[in-house]
Formats: sequence, structure tokens, C-alpha cells
Amino acid sequence: MQLLSKHQRTTRTLISLFLIGLLASPCLPAQPLPSPAPSPAPAPPALPLSPFNERLEAAYVAFQAWKHAITEDPKNLTKDWCGPFVCNYTGVFCAAAPDDPHTLTVAGVDLNHGDIAGCLPDHLGLLADVALLHLNSNRFRGMLPPSMQHMRLLFELDVSNNLLSGAFPAFLTSLPKLKFLDLRFNGFDGELPDAVFGRQLGLDALFANNNRFNVSLSSKSLTNSTASVIVLANTRLAGCLPPSIGDMADTLVELILLNTSISSCIPPEIGKLKKLKVLDLSHNDLAGELPDSIGDMESLEVLNVGYNMLAGEVPEAICELPRLRNLTIAGNYFCDEPVSCLHVPLRDDRMNCIPDWPHQRSPEECIAFAHRPPPHCAADGCIVSPP
Ligand SMILES: *[C@@H]1O[C@H](CO)[C@@H](O)[C@H](O)[C@H]1NC(C)=O
Ligand SMILES: *[C@@H]1O[C@H](CO)[C@@H](O)[C@H](O)[C@H]1NC(C)=O
Ligand SMILES: *[C@@H]1O[C@H](CO)[C@@H](O)[C@H](O)[C@H]1NC(C)=O
Ligand SMILES: *[C@@H]1O[C@H](CO)[C@@H](O)[C@H](O)[C@H]1NC(C)=O
Ligand SMILES: *[C@@H]1O[C@H](CO)[C@@H](O)[C@H](O)[C@H]1NC(C)=O
Ligand SMILES: *[C@@H]1O[C@H](CO)[C@@H](O)[C@H](O)[C@H]1NC(C)=O
Repeated sequence: MQLLSKHQRTTRTLISLFLIGLLASPCLPAQPLPSPAPSPAPAPPALPLSPFNERLEAAYVAFQAWKHAITEDPKNLTKDWCGPFVCNYTGVFCAAAPDDPHTLTVAGVDLNHGDIAGCLPDHLGLLADVALLHLNSNRFRGMLPPSMQHMRLLFELDVSNNLLSGAFPAFLTSLPKLKFLDLRFNGFDGELPDAVFGRQLGLDALFANNNRFNVSLSSKSLTNSTASVIVLANTRLAGCLPPSIGDMADTLVELILLNTSISSCIPPEIGKLKKLKVLDLSHNDLAGELPDSIGDMESLEVLNVGYNMLAGEVPEAICELPRLRNLTIAGNYFCDEPVSCLHVPLRDDRMNCIPDWPHQRSPEECIAFAHRPPPHCAADGCIVSPP
């Protein structure tokens, strides 16, 4: 009993201290954060996983600051974010702390599809044990607070489909456990740092699409990645698809680079990606021919190279890929498609230059294209304009 009331007092003290700071501006680091101090080796509690401990007190401060930073909560998800026992809050999940199985701590927060408007206060970093943070489809704006660098156990971060902005939050690349990073559909901008693809961070999945990021392919950092899923659609990629793309053979399963302004050839080394199931390079400025080696990508199920400037024949080996079920070559200048392609269950070959075939470009367009000098592909994958 004495233990409980002491903890409750501590909590109240923390609350009043923090409310004073809070009234200023909830989403700016207004004051130094109470550090998530290591527990001072208490006597073993009577109950294992007591609902009162310093980590839950710190979490309480974080959630109250967060609630204060929320301006609209149409589904009332945070309505029950009252009282010191945060583990009972909607969207909050507690578990034994990995470093101390006798201490209950906040392990996850899931407010997906909450439609909540507000910002993410710097106090969020007090949730130091959180492994899963799922905030997709809300209206959080501003930046990810730098205090999130204290989330050393963060494994999955999904802030997709919000109104977040600013540069790529650099601290993310130093989170030791981060494997799944989903920033898609926000207003982030600037360069995506090389470290995002680095082996040290070692992400398993990166969704950065539909932001204003610039990604440089020339540094070859992307192809250092060991992620299984890389989605950069609707961002801006500078540079060419380098031959080192084949270096991701051991890990890459899905690569989505649609509408990224790439002007490049497709290097034959792409054929090394034998685990790749989904490849989308559509809506870019790819030129040259489809390399035969794509026919070596034995796991490929979906191939979309639509709406580029590719020409020549579609290699037969591609259409013979055993798992291929969705092939899009529409919107290019291909002049032939082998009969085997007709067996691919979903196929879109419109707007090419295939003779005597429906829905093709006009003969004038195709003749004009055929009279242009063919592009030359350099060793670095770039298109060398013919003289
Ligand atoms: C949320 O709470 C307000 C006020 O208590 C109520 O009017 C509204 O209907 C609630 N909304 C939902 C979706 O439960
Ligand atoms: C948490 O919620 C459960 C179920 O509603 C309740 O029995 C329990 O007393 C609550 N715990 C605390 C510490 O408030
Ligand atoms: C991103 O690329 C565009 C076009 O190349 C350029 O105007 C812009 O300054 C770049 N932004 C950054 C942050 O590099
Ligand atoms: C790619 O990885 C190698 C080591 O595997 C490293 O030396 C190089 O700096 C990395 N490149 C980039 C651009 O990160
Ligand atoms: C391509 O991406 C740009 C932003 O980089 C966007 O404005 C445009 O709508 C996208 N186009 C398509 C066809 O999605
Ligand atoms: C097939 O691929 C096209 C282009 O990538 C895509 O729009 C379509 O949704 C895919 N269909 C199926 C059933 O996967």
C-alpha cells in the first residue's frame, strides 16, 4: 500500500511539473525531458508486473502530452487516455520489458486509421521501450520528434498517410532494431540519406513513396540495401539504374520505382535478382531494350515496365517465366511480342508498335520512333545520347 501511494505521489509530481511546461507549445522541445532513468533496483514487488513503475509513469507523461497535442479525435480513440494506468488506454499495448521481465512497460502503440489531427510532441521519446508504433491514416503534422531516437527497441514504424513534413528524420538511421519503415504518403522532402539503405541500419522494408524525397542512384547506396521490399514510387530518383542492382540478389523481393523520373537503360545484371517477385519500373524514361536476362528472374510474378521508351522485341524468356502472371509493357515502342506472352494471365501490351495487333500506336508514330538513332547504354547503366 505504501509503495502504491508513493508511486502515485511521484506520478502527480511529474504531472504537475510537466503540465507547467506543456502549456507553452506541445510539439516543441520546450524543456529537457525527464530521462527514462534506469530503475534503482527496487525490492522485488509483491505482484509481478505491478501496474505502477517508473517506465509506466514516464509513459503516462508521454501520453498526456500527446493527448494535449491532439486537436481532433473524431473516433474518440484517446478519450480514455486518463488515469495513470496507461496500459488500459485505447491503442496502447504493454508487455514485460525485454531487459526486465518483472517490469511492465509500453511495448506498442497502434492508432492506425484514427483520423486524429495534431502533432507528435517531443515527449514521445519517453516511450523508450516501444517496439511497434503504428500511426497510419491520421492527420499528424510537423516533424517526427527527435526524442524518438530514445526508442532503442523500435522495430516497426508506420507513419504512412499523415501530413508529416520536413527532411528525412536522420535519427531513424541510428535506431538499432528498426526493420520496417513506412513513411509513405506524407510531405517529407530532401535527400534520402545513403544510410537508409546501409547495411548498418539493415531495414527489411522501406516504403518512402509519395513524398517529395530525392534519391540519388549515382552513389550506388540503394543497391547496398539488404531490404526485401523497397518502394520509392512517386519520388524523384536521380541517376541511372547501376549494374550493381544485381547485388541485392540475396534479399530483394519487391522493387517499386514507378514514376521516379529515372532516365536509364535496364542493366542486364538485373537478371541476378532471382528472388524478386514484383518489379515495377513504369512511368519513367527507360530506354533501350528489355534485357534477355530478365528471363532468369525465376520468382518474378509481376513485371511492369509500362510507359517508358523501351523498344525492340520482348524477350521470349520473360514470357516463359513460370510464375509470371501480370505483365505490363504498354506505352512503349516494342515491335514484337512472342506468342508465349499470350499465356501470361494478365497482360497489357497496348500502345506499342506491334504490327497487326490491336490498340497499338499509329504507324506514323512508330515510323518516327524507328527513325530516331537507337540509344547507347553505357557501362554505368546511363543512356548515352547518340551524336
Ligand atoms: C465522441 O465523443 C463525443 C462527445 O462525447 C460524441 O458526441 C461523439 O458521438 C463520439 N464519437 C464517436 C465516433 O464515438
Ligand atoms: C484495466 O482495465 C481492466 C478491465 O477494464 C480493469 O479490470 C483494471 O482494473 C484496469 N486496471 C487499472 C490499473 O486501472
Ligand atoms: C530535388 O531535385 C530537384 C530536381 O532535380 C531539385 O530542384 C531539388 O532542389 C532537389 N532537392 C533536394 C533537397 O536536393
Ligand atoms: C556500400 O557498402 C560498402 C560495403 O559493403 C561500403 O564500403 C560503401 O561505402 C557503401 N556505399 C554507400 C554509398 O553506402
Ligand atoms: C508522379 O510523381 C509526381 C511527384 O513526384 C506527381 O506529382 C505525379 O502526379 C505522379 N504521376 C503519376 C502518373 O502518378
Ligand atoms: C497487374 O499489373 C498492373 C500494373 O502493374 C496493375 O495495375 C494491376 O493492378 C495488376 N493486376 C493484378 C490483378 O495484380
